[in-house]
Amino acid sequence: MTRDLSAPILIFGGAGGIGEALARRLRSAGQPVSITSRCPERAHALASQIGATALVCDVLDPDTVGAACAAAARDGRLGGVVYAVGSIPLKPLARATVDDMLTAYRINVVGAFLAVQASVDALKAAGGSVVLFSSVAAAQGFPNHAAIGAAKGAVGGLTLNLAAELAPAVRVNAIAPSLTATPLAAPLTKNPIVAESIAKLHPIPRLGDADEVAALAQFLLSKDAGWITGQIIGLDGGRSTLRVGKS
Ligand SMILES: NC(=O)c1ccc[n+]([C@@H]2O[C@H](COP(=O)([O-])OP(=O)(O)OC[C@H]3O[C@@H](n4cnc5c(N)ncnc54)[C@H](OP(=O)(O)O)[C@@H]3O)[C@@H](O)[C@H]2O)c1
Repeated sequence: MTRDLSAPILIFGGAGGIGEALARRLRSAGQPVSITSRCPERAHALASQIGATALVCDVLDPDTVGAACAAAARDGRLGGVVYAVGSIPLKPLARATVDDMLTAYRINVVGAFLAVQASVDALKAAGGSVVLFSSVAAAQGFPNHAAIGAAKGAVGGLTLNLAAELAPAVRVNAIAPSLTATPLAAPLTKNPIVAESIAKLHPIPRLGDADEVAALAQFLLSKDAGWITGQIIGLDGGRSTLRVGKS
């Protein structure tokens, strides 16, 4: 995979399940990486282990998003920005609140918008690439997913419209995983019986693995993906598109 190794990659949520797997992959390939976390101890512990730069950022505080982008750029250049921040606010409609809807939107959509806005000049300078995260819940409906499904659907709209506005200088794509074994998914995966029953709902009957999601993100960041932009790529064992067995 051909890669410009001089321009750093900034991973928001870089101490999370998918973010950490991507940070490890990129560092193994020699790429300079900055990771953000709300928790300084967690960010520094991982960063020192893998040779990355630790940044503290809470995407609900826009100033910290801008500061992270400025700190991560090298010579005014960023090779990529990955927004691997997420939440999983699952609630039945009767208990969901306006605050749940707005918080999911702020964490998943507004934070991604701010990250791209604050880094766009550095991305343009390096011919960089943006990877956002949608979800299978934007393509298929599930009970209790109104807040996160709506927010992740909006990430799809953000991806398309930023990709159009920033082409050809900056490519913008999103990955839409189904349930992947990370801390975020723990409320659903910690019970092995529940995890097994969800796994069986996928035409390829298992849960996703953080490293395979990271592998797709790594590819989208690379020059080998240089003609891919404005795509929302399902990584979901076929769940969003296929129905298998007798119909
Ligand atoms: N795992 C799945 O099943 C799944 C399915 C569909 C989509 N996705 C999406 O994939 C992406 C990566 O998720 P993951 O599975 O790796 O989840 P994860 O392990 O929980 O990591 C997500 C990270 O988001 C960060 N975060 C949450 N709120 C934040 C805030 N206000 N400011 C800054 N950072 C914040 C957390 O960082 P700190 O706690 O370190 O601050 C956390 O480590 C997310 O966008 C998620 O929605 C995941």
